[in-house]
Amino acid sequence: ILANLFYDVATRTSSSFTAAMERLGGSVIPINEVRYSSVSKGESLPDTVRTLECYADVVVLRHPEVGSAALAAKYAKKPVINAGDGIGEHPTQALLDSFTIKEELGHIDGLTITMLGDLKYGRTVHSLSRLLSLYKAKLNYVSPEILRMPPEIIDELSVKGVEQAEFNTIAPVLSETDVLYVTRVQKERFADLADYESVAKAYVIDPEIMRSAKDRMIVMHPLPRVTEISLEFDEDPRAAYFRQMEYGLYVRM
Ligand code: CP
Repeated sequence: ILANLFYDVATRTSSSFTAAMERLGGSVIPINEVRYSSVSKGESLPDTVRTLECYADVVVLRHPEVGSAALAAKYAKKPVINAGDGIGEHPTQALLDSFTIKEELGHIDGLTITMLGDLKYGRTVHSLSRLLSLYKAKLNYVSPEILRMPPEIIDELSVKGVEQAEFNTIAPVLSETDVLYVTRVQKERFADLADYESVAKAYVIDPEIMRSAKDRMIVMHPLPRVTEISLEFDEDPRAAYFRQMEYGLYVRM
């Protein structure tokens, strides 16, 4: 029995964990809207997790605060799976992302992987870059100045000897890229709407831009997308983001 505890919005992570457990023959306690649970009466995260583990064998937690999964795990006796803690980490996404690369391209070692968009607040790229540091991949980071990959992650990967480079535009690196990992600029993370609007449409991947990319490469996205990949690109065989979503089900199983 899986307790699916979501304090924050989700479509893919919540529903794929549910589908994964049901396909394995288990069942799910769905708490997709904590407003209808005793959280709305002021119950703390440690108490809520200690409640759910009385009834479930594993807890999947999405929460808006960095470190929330670690806090829950500190109090829980049963396994807690981090399904996204604010702008921190999204480790099961990184597992399904690395599975996607292997499934689509056969290997990870030797590839050039370019991450594009919101690298500051994007928890998926934080987890994926750390996971990729276990391989011999080259990482390019393409972002607006205000959305650069956090320096502590770049430093952590440098110590491990990962080859990394930062850019403001995609043009210098697109032709060498084997995996283009596109992320959404997350409006909900900005305190000042003007800052968001200054970078919201910084990058749009479309068929025209992709003419200078390799024939054998893939474009990934954790989804949801807004405008950063045009709908016209969806039919291109290099568009792997819908296949990536389905791989997430199998990885979570
Ligand atoms: N990729 C991902 O985490 O999507 P959801 O927020 O819809 O779960």
